[in-house]
Amino acid sequence: MRARPRAELSKGTLKADIADDIEVQADRALVGKILDNLINNALVYSDHPPMVLVTGRRDGDQVAITVVDDGIGISSQDQGRIFGRFARGTDRRVLEKPGTGLGLYLSRGLAEQMGGSLQLASSRPGKGSTFALRLPVGVA
Ligand SMILES: Nc1ncnc2c1ncn2[C@@H]1O[C@H](COP(=O)(O)OP(=O)(O)OP(=O)(O)O)[C@@H](O)[C@H]1O
Ligand SMILES: [Mg+2]
Repeated sequence: MRARPRAELSKGTLKADIADDIEVQADRALVGKILDNLINNALVYSDHPPMVLVTGRRDGDQVAITVVDDGIGISSQDQGRIFGRFARGTDRRVLEKPGTGLGLYLSRGLAEQMGGSLQLASSRPGKGSTFALRLPVGVA
């Protein structure tokens, strides 16, 4: 996985648990961009060496991918805004890192263009966040 060097830089752990029978009906490069954004966020927005898990499984006519982290989490006020254009979180630990606030906005746009979706599945301040990407399953 190409995010591995970044995980090593942050002294974090990156694990993947992807079912091997899944294929998505989507552009590989674009799916890669979305996952880069999600994994980068998961590694960066943490105040300790991050633990990030990427899972993938088939769910009916979709492939469900989750990116789970144990980072700083997202406050309920911020949860409503983070998919906006140029929207950054309000937490000091977010604002001290460089960022433009476009990653999630663009990633959701790409997911939707491919007939899928991108959502924050859950987040608890101080505990971590889970993002859920869904894409149409490939025709084998
Ligand atoms: N895994 C995460 N843990 C905690 N907060 C997150 C996480 N992912 C996103 N956020 C919050 O959502 C905001 C928006 O994320 P997004 O990726 O769109 O922009 P960014 O990371 O600030 O900048 P960039 O455009 O460079 O990615 C972040 O500023 C941060 O507050
Ligand atoms: Mg980002």
